[in-house]
Amino acid sequence: MQRSISTEVKDGRSGRRRCAGQRRAASSAIRNAAALVCVAALAACGSGEQAAPPAPAPPVEEAPAPAPAPAPPVDEAPAPAPPREVDFSGGDAARGEAVYLANCASCHGPRGEGDGPVAATLDPRPANHADGTRMNALSDDYLAGVILHGGPSVGKSPMMAPFAGVLDEGQVADVVAYIRTLADPPYRP
Ligand code: HEC
Repeated sequence: MQRSISTEVKDGRSGRRRCAGQRRAASSAIRNAAALVCVAALAACGSGEQAAPPAPAPPVEEAPAPAPAPAPPVDEAPAPAPPREVDFSGGDAARGEAVYLANCASCHGPRGEGDGPVAATLDPRPANHADGTRMNALSDDYLAGVILHGGPSVGKSPMMAPFAGVLDEGQVADVVAYIRTLADPPYRP
């Protein structure tokens, strides 16, 4: 009985040894298989990474480019304006009086004598448009220029505001014509 047991044990040991040999063979086969899987996976990953990004990205960056193109035509707009000569000598004094009373009399006074309600607060005081000895020497263009562009445009007080944008050129010509009727001695063009 004992012998057969020991034989079985020996067989069992040798069987274990055989198993170990099979395990080594199996594990090397698994390693080889695993290596193949890794190579296959790397190949798949490599080709996957290279193929995916280039395709979708570029079209998004190229989209905004066509928009700025329509801008340049704006540069051509301001050109036609400068070559205009305005004649401020043909104004209507009656229309100009209404414009003067509405826009100028608060400082210059209703008769242009520099005695409007605001005049006392100003330094220098508003010009006396009734003083013909001084006003008659000034041209229509000079007066229109002061009215349109303000006192500082001729070295005078900034309290004489620019009326460009408030009065159109026809109204400025009318106001100049009214100022001429105030002069004493009278204005002779
Ligand atoms: C807020 C007050 C004020 C108002 C409103 C005003 N002015 Fe004047 N104006 C002045 C002052 C101040 C001066 C400068 C006076 C000076 O420096 O001799 C002046 C100067 C002038 C001059 C220059 C005269 C010169 O001797 O060179 C003219 C022309 C004139 N104004 C016309 C007008 C007319 C036309 C209006 C209305 C459309 C007007 N002003 C509205 C205050 C005013």
